[in-house]
Amino acid sequence: MSNVSTPVSLQSFSSAPVLTTASGIPVADNQNSLTAGPRGPVLLQDFHLLEKLAHFNRERIPERVVHAKGSAAYGKLTITHDITKYSKAKIFSKIGNTSEAFLRFSTVAGERGAADAERDVRGFALRFYTEEGNWDIVGNNTPVFFIRDPLKFPDFIHTQKRDPQTNLRSNVAAWDFWSLSPESLHQVTILMSDRGIPQNLRQMNGYGSHTYSFVNAIGERYWVKLHFKSLQGHAHFTDAEAADVVGNNRESSQADLFHAIADGNFPRWRFCVQIMTDAQAKAFRFNPFDLTKVWPHGEFPLIDVGILELNRNPQNYHAEVEQAAFSPANVVPGVGHSPDKVLQSRIFSYADAHRYRIGANYQQLAVNAPRCPVFNYQRDGAMRVDFSKDVSPNYEPNSFGGPKECPAFAEPPLPLEGAADRYNHREGNDDYTQPGNLFRLLAPDAKQRLVENIGRHMTGVPREIQLRAVCHFFRADPAYGMGVAKALGLDIGEFLAKAAGHAARG
Ligand code: NDP
Ligand code: HEM
Repeated sequence: MSNVSTPVSLQSFSSAPVLTTASGIPVADNQNSLTAGPRGPVLLQDFHLLEKLAHFNRERIPERVVHAKGSAAYGKLTITHDITKYSKAKIFSKIGNTSEAFLRFSTVAGERGAADAERDVRGFALRFYTEEGNWDIVGNNTPVFFIRDPLKFPDFIHTQKRDPQTNLRSNVAAWDFWSLSPESLHQVTILMSDRGIPQNLRQMNGYGSHTYSFVNAIGERYWVKLHFKSLQGHAHFTDAEAADVVGNNRESSQADLFHAIADGNFPRWRFCVQIMTDAQAKAFRFNPFDLTKVWPHGEFPLIDVGILELNRNPQNYHAEVEQAAFSPANVVPGVGHSPDKVLQSRIFSYADAHRYRIGANYQQLAVNAPRCPVFNYQRDGAMRVDFSKDVSPNYEPNSFGGPKECPAFAEPPLPLEGAADRYNHREGNDDYTQPGNLFRLLAPDAKQRLVENIGRHMTGVPREIQLRAVCHFFRADPAYGMGVAKALGLDIGEFLAKAAGHAARG
């Protein structure tokens, strides 16, 4: 894998354009500052120097608070199957329809300069620029997540980021939080399995993870899960292989994706959905809006929708990738949200982050701007680049033909029930069956790597926390618990005695 960027074609000096300042003024000398005498101090009137230094100081914007390190590409979604009985979204209206797409992959915990081949969840933030506005699916390469209540998101992320005093990443914090939050067990199992270190971004799946909704042309609502299955298959690094890769190449995923696309080796994913009716949701044995659980394929089979292909590299990393601003709030008519409380909170969180990180008019940047016309009464703000060319009213209602709402786009009402309260999300929730199902479907060698990965990751974690975590693995599957206990070098007798103590204390 190479880290060398693609060479630009060498142009002759004579054909090069004249250098200008940002205001377009030709620059006579870009090598020597304007000074008082050959050895003298710099003159304040050298505005080319001042502009160059001042702009350089402002080249960075705040990195994303999570998912800071990323790689992205443009592509195309092609609809291959008819799902109009579930959704009236125009993109689905005809087999053969296409939409421009943009997909940003990321790691979660590392900063912008972090190495790619780390054990971490991968972000899978996908945008379809549809004729009815941008549809953003801000997902991961895992179908579930660590928490089911958004109140715990900042706490969880603090355990993944650096310790405020040591400035070191802390596996003690990670395992303390995970072992005190059994709902994380499913995602932790995926993270510690082979799929925790994808070799590259092409050979992994993407998932919307949350339950979303579809609404069809006659106003019927369906609950839906979104899946993107890699047609390149899966490839992973072991811990030891990843350490080697990181030692040689910190940008292994970025290089792989960029060069694959530059070489015409376009990665593709099968876009599928799982559908649940409202009646099925009500009768289901667990909460279908619980982000820590999957819908079993056996009961809710994958339905093909289309093919996603990435086929064009961005021209400018900062403009198009760093300034990309995705939001789960962006759904188009025929697609909707669900009562999943984590999803609900993300509807707020992303646009708030973009206004801080990029600015109030972030939707006007080329990568974020919809490819369909935008009509609204938002005006002004920092760095506004568009304006209405017609003399149009900037208030509504008005008598001058300004844009109006259209009730045809209303979603069907969603009945809700229950008193407002803070409900204990741990009560009556089974955190163990699905992680156990995943453990049981792994081949014996994959099981062994899983427990060894966990053992290594828990090195240096206080024994009390190790024991607490092992109890959870044990409850998912006794062989899982035994495997981790062994990998940790725990005395099984001591472990069983402590486990009995934990069980007695509840
Ligand atoms: P299935 O046997 O129908 O599906 C198993 C799924 O597990 C496949 O989607 C497979 O992905 C995926 N898988 C295989 N290895 C790993 C791994 N190391 N990490 C994550 N996923 C992996 O069974 P069920 O639908 O009943 O689900 C059983 C378990 O499979 C679940 O508890 C969950 O942990 C996991 N799973 C389920 C998904 C779902 O939506 N039902 C989605 C992804 C995982 P692939 O087909 O790409 O090889
Ligand atoms: C990025 C918040 C859960 C996937 C972000 C960002 C914030 C955030 C603030 C940075 C956005 C930016 O600056 O551009 C939250 C909150 C969550 C949550 C509050 C839960 C309460 C999730 C879940 C997923 C997810 C469940 C996946 C299923 C992503 C991805 C990115 C991201 C992929 C990177 C987007 C990009 O590439 O620009 N999140 N997040 N997040 N989040 Fe979340």
